[in-house]
Amino acid sequence: MSDVVTLERQGPIAVIRVNNPPVNALGIAVREGLQNSFKAAEADAEVKAIVLVCEGNTFIAGADIKEFGKPPKSPGLPEVVNDIEAGSKPSIAVIHGTALGGGLEVALSCHYRIARKDAKVGLPEVKLGLLPGAGGTQRLPRVVGVEKALDMIVSGAPISAVEANELGVVDELFDGDLLAAGKAFAEQLIADGKGARRTGERTDKLEGVDNAALVAAKRAEIDKKMPGLFSPQRCVSAVEASFTLPLADGLKRERELFGECLTSPQRAALVHAFFTERLASKVDDLPKDTPVREVKSAGVIGGGTMGVGIAMCFANAGIPVKILEISDEARDKAIERARDTYGMSVKRGSLSEAALEKRMALVSGITDYADLSDVDLVVEAVFEDMGVKQKVFEALDANCKPGAILSSNTSSLDLNEIANFTKRPEDVVGLHFFSPANVMRLLEVVRGAKTSNDVLATAMAIGKKLKKVAVPVGVCDGFVGNRMVFQYGRESEFLLEEGATPAQVDGVLKKFGMAMGPFAMRDLSGLDIGLAIRNRQRETLSPEYKLPTILGKMADAGMLGQKTGKGFYVYEKGSRTPLENPELPAILEAASKEQGIQRQPLSDEYILERCMYALINEGAKILEEGIAQRASDIDVIYINGYGFPSHQGGPMFYADSIGLDRVYARICEFHEQHGAWWKPAPLLEKLAKEGRKFADL
Ligand code: 3HC
Ligand code: NAI
Repeated sequence: MSDVVTLERQGPIAVIRVNNPPVNALGIAVREGLQNSFKAAEADAEVKAIVLVCEGNTFIAGADIKEFGKPPKSPGLPEVVNDIEAGSKPSIAVIHGTALGGGLEVALSCHYRIARKDAKVGLPEVKLGLLPGAGGTQRLPRVVGVEKALDMIVSGAPISAVEANELGVVDELFDGDLLAAGKAFAEQLIADGKGARRTGERTDKLEGVDNAALVAAKRAEIDKKMPGLFSPQRCVSAVEASFTLPLADGLKRERELFGECLTSPQRAALVHAFFTERLASKVDDLPKDTPVREVKSAGVIGGGTMGVGIAMCFANAGIPVKILEISDEARDKAIERARDTYGMSVKRGSLSEAALEKRMALVSGITDYADLSDVDLVVEAVFEDMGVKQKVFEALDANCKPGAILSSNTSSLDLNEIANFTKRPEDVVGLHFFSPANVMRLLEVVRGAKTSNDVLATAMAIGKKLKKVAVPVGVCDGFVGNRMVFQYGRESEFLLEEGATPAQVDGVLKKFGMAMGPFAMRDLSGLDIGLAIRNRQRETLSPEYKLPTILGKMADAGMLGQKTGKGFYVYEKGSRTPLENPELPAILEAASKEQGIQRQPLSDEYILERCMYALINEGAKILEEGIAQRASDIDVIYINGYGFPSHQGGPMFYADSIGLDRVYARICEFHEQHGAWWKPAPLLEKLAKEGRKFADL
């Protein structure tokens, strides 16, 4: 018997325990252990019921994702769960934490399921580019019906134990001790003379419903909402087999479709995204025993767009937060804004009134720095102006207690200069939130030249507490994300000057999977923001670095994006739907003429290369300079902060998948054609010539 799965008889009940930290994933040892334990319990004449329970924080959280892409080892999970279901003695899965993917499939093969009230269950395989491959697509519809099964499997979103209980996925909810609850349920089954109850034998939920229509509707929804994704349509095909084929054939069909997904490039990219998101939180040169400072209260300076969102993040995490503003009026407005934003969630039904009040009770407004004397951490989010930041940090230095962490949300200013406004630069760190701060998951944690280890460790920990994906970055203009996006924005504008239209460029990038095209994005954030950066660069950069001129021309014509109803697109009053801007072609033609560019049609492939390779080349420079600690951290930043499609794995993973020799060769061509910006990054050149990848670093 394996160590990770043990079997113990307690009277007439066989207790099978899984103990495979951190999440009881179904690696080969667990699969073997489960198979052998269930077999042994079946063979023991004294055993009348079997209880499956897990150690640690969670029930089985799924297949072991690390095994994907490696040669399969027997027994496979489908065989294990089929054996469990075929057993003659009633088996009970006792769920706590999360029963996800293969974990829920194991539970569905048990004859009964009970769950602790705070547990969650789900089939999230689609998020890894897969489908449930151990009977989930055949057994879940037999329990909840095709409609709900399609929803759960195609979205991958888990449901609460309470909902699972209402749907019949679990038979009973409990509080408290897992084993006691499992044994009590088993004893009752024995007393009632209840035996095996096999989900696979059920057909009641599959009957009397137009399942074919449900499948057609889901297919249409996927075509609209997730075009280009490989696994969702295959999830539907697998569920379809649950009502068109007998169980054994349905399971076979599921297996075939699972195999197709397993070998798809999207699966590899999504698994990369899963692991690298977790890896990003690990700072390589930070000793494991670095102490973390306690953060029980926070302050935010500036209650504007970012400040209010940041304050809400703290309140959401149960941390009291004070917003400091320049006047009573600005202070009250900030508080009102926080309440209004929560109010919108209440309207949408995602937050209760009671939760709103609870969170607002944690948010207070102040105007006096003396009121920050007791807080553990401060985030500055005032205007992006070094003079203003200087005054704020001097005031913080004078008023905050020793040991308080002083952070800045600056998106482009020099954090080291900001730190030196204080007498404690070791306590200063950058916390670069993204807008809207209460929604966006990314947090760039900017490590200054003097930031101490424990401040960095605390900043990373606080990121996790705020449910952010915290990624450490170094100090440079724009850090990682904005420094790269500048290259992308510039190239996309050059493409307009060379002959493309905003709709074409946005269309190409949307088809690639970006959440938004660069021009729809510019219209949303306002052209003036990009223009200010452009103008600053025009003053500081050497003239060999050409810059597009259309932003300035558009701003002169009053086209600032959605806020003026006109930008790269026009917007009818009250609408966010982008329509063609009839005045734009004349502006583009004037810009082309001014730059001496002959406008010509550009292919979609060329557009994609120009935009993506601009990101990749800058990413390589960032890596070489040590601004990001790993190529995969750049991927995490792009996926979580810039709408980069996770099924493409992030820009650096995408570069690896194309082949760095090819990327390098194209960049050399662009360098020749378009000049200085395209000088290939030395690291890219080196890796390409050595036949290596970013992932090899
Ligand atoms: N396989 C291998 N490792 C896993 C894993 C899995 N299924 N799930 C989590 N881990 C690892 C993480 O990489 C992390 O490792 P690290 O400490 O070395 O970085 C560690 O477990 C802890 O994970 P989290 O940091 O994510 O811990 P949380 O407590 O925040 O979340 C969780 C726990 C909700 C279980 C989350 O880890 C999760 O969602 N896991 C993935 C679940 C999933 O997708 N399951 C389906 C797998 S596919 C499948 O089952 C196919 C089947 O149908 C055949
Ligand atoms: P904003 O203009 O919306 O808000 C700034 C707020 O700071 C205003 O409410 C103002 O009254 C207040 N303020 C100004 N001086 C102050 C002072 N001395 N003391 C107290 N309050 C003061 O600006 P926004 O967009 O919130 O940006 C704030 C910071 O966040 C900037 O550094 C910006 O670069 C950064 N940032 C902005 C992002 C965005 O998308 N808006 C994204 C990420 C970072």
